[in-house]
Amino acid sequence: MDDMRDPVVYTPPMPSKPTARSMVRPRSLRALVFDAYGTLFDVHSLVELCEQIWPGKGAALSQLWRAKQLEYTWQRSLMRRYEDFARITEAGLRYACAALGLQLDEERRRALMGAYLKLSTFPEVRGALAALKDSKLKLAILSNGSPAMLRPLVANAGLRGLMGTLISVDQKKIYKPAPAVYRLATQRLRVPKTAIGFVSSNCWDACGAKSFGFRTFWINRGGTPVDELGAAPDHVIKSLDELPGLLRRPVS
Ligand code: 2OP
Repeated sequence: MDDMRDPVVYTPPMPSKPTARSMVRPRSLRALVFDAYGTLFDVHSLVELCEQIWPGKGAALSQLWRAKQLEYTWQRSLMRRYEDFARITEAGLRYACAALGLQLDEERRRALMGAYLKLSTFPEVRGALAALKDSKLKLAILSNGSPAMLRPLVANAGLRGLMGTLISVDQKKIYKPAPAVYRLATQRLRVPKTAIGFVSSNCWDACGAKSFGFRTFWINRGGTPVDELGAAPDHVIKSLDELPGLLRRPVS
């Protein structure tokens, strides 16, 4: 896995807060790349099913499951022990059930992992993507999800016709926010990083993409503070449906 490592280099400090500069130069962007889980797809749309299986525990299970899933991506990347996102997701589920004292039998495991392929999109996603598709920008997903997870997820949500390219970290065998992952998008889309807008609700992901060199849009649905990672997103919006208008603004 050595070829996946990026050299450790000194990087000059970047703005620690999103800048006041809010104008986007539409003509300078040629592609928009979206994170999947948490950005387009609501990982917590599983709460209802969790609640049906274990009444009173749905929200706690969903929160801990997602938290462990992400932790395992970072930890395994540092350990250089990549496993695909389906296995990571299942490991997170097993941990969360064990921690909450919930019995995960085969039938429940299957039901919950199957539901991960049918997550709901956030309400504004379809309309916003349709508007963005009309803007003639290339649209793509860049996700931790393996191709076997992403394809049915996008198809089940009816987004196949709106989303041009699905790019998975699986090709690099390392997870976000490794620079090699963001570079993959420039290679697959054949667009330089300065002409790619990257959209994520996961602030750490938007910071990672900014650190790599994308123009970044953080969808801060929860109104949380920006992560202190030394590379703040360029733009902060509350919902994806703000993006088409933002891209149409005049040059400052
Ligand atoms: C994704 O890569 C980070 O889970 C998020 O889709």
